[in-house]
Amino acid sequence: MVKDEAFSGGKGQGNPYLGAIKDALPQEEVNTHALQRYDSTNDTTVLSLYRYGARHAAQFLPQPETGETILEIGSGTGDSTLELFLKYPGVDFNILGIEQSQGMLAVAQYKFHHEDGENVMAAEPNEQVQSFWNAFRQESESYQGRVQFVNDDFLTTTSLDKEAYKSAVAIQVMHWLDSGEKGKDLTSALSRFSEFIKPEGSLLWTTSSHYFNDKKFPTLEYNCRYNDFFKFVLEEVSHSYAVNGVEQLPQPKQNLESVQAASRAAGMETTQLTTRMNEFDLQTLVSFHTPRIVRSLLKEPDNVDDSELQKVTKAAVQKAIGNIYDGTLSDTKHIHDIVPVFMSVKK
Ligand SMILES: C[S@@+](CC[C@H](N)C(=O)[O-])C[C@H]1O[C@@H](n2cnc3c(N)ncnc32)[C@H](O)[C@@H]1O
Repeated sequence: MVKDEAFSGGKGQGNPYLGAIKDALPQEEVNTHALQRYDSTNDTTVLSLYRYGARHAAQFLPQPETGETILEIGSGTGDSTLELFLKYPGVDFNILGIEQSQGMLAVAQYKFHHEDGENVMAAEPNEQVQSFWNAFRQESESYQGRVQFVNDDFLTTTSLDKEAYKSAVAIQVMHWLDSGEKGKDLTSALSRFSEFIKPEGSLLWTTSSHYFNDKKFPTLEYNCRYNDFFKFVLEEVSHSYAVNGVEQLPQPKQNLESVQAASRAAGMETTQLTTRMNEFDLQTLVSFHTPRIVRSLLKEPDNVDDSELQKVTKAAVQKAIGNIYDGTLSDTKHIHDIVPVFMSVKK
């Protein structure tokens, strides 16, 4: 396995780890800042952004019956899987996780004691990440025999039984299934869930503000990428490259009405249960989103050398980080991802 696969499962796939941050900032600096943030929550475990999100969503999971198997789509590295178990520690239920990325799945298998981890450890020499995984293994130990992870694409898999699950879960996955690529739209995705869910069964799911425009907290007004941090970075980059304004970024494609219409077309009824203002992790913004957003806003992207652009972006980010810590950048309105939580019930 190549190194980045341990984090992301390959190009363009989810990245809930520290790994790629190394490209943006000196690791030591990042660790210090990251730990400061986590410490301020008084949490002794370094919980990732995804883990917090999954813990919140799991609060809405209907109580499973003894022996029931919950279908989890896009189980990633197992963070959300563990949170589902932790919601009902006294109930003896199972989880079947379907994950398309071999790299993510390998990490999940290590974290749930299904593999000895030789490969993932070799691919990830960062000791902080390793200790994070090892701490997770202590928490997951008693659940290891109740979860099965399958490496497959949910949209095309033939390994699932029809109408077999009373409860399905997809945490931070729907925007992948409605990516606009051929056959990937919300009605098709929900129809697919409907195929495997029993009548009256339900799907619990969450997504992000780059995809869903919340009524109370519209993306353009609240989303983290419009904060003064990003504006500062863009301003710095504009000294070297011609860039468009943030208003040129694609807007979220769904709102509550469109989600409900797509659900009805798929034979489901969807309710938005709540909205969570998720304080967006600076590391994730810096390492994962900022370089991509900067690139997508270039006026003439074709003639730009990637490594030169990365250098300019990195320097801009470092300057911006300095300004956050000395108080010059102090916007606290736009530091969130706005996370809606939905329940779709099969009619
Ligand atoms: C943002 S991650 C969330 C992971 C996990 N649910 C969590 O909350 O930590 C989204 C995951 O969905 C997976 N995914 C996307 N499309 C998928 C598909 N068609 N079939 C299976 N997994 C998929 C990705 O590979 C990625 O691991």
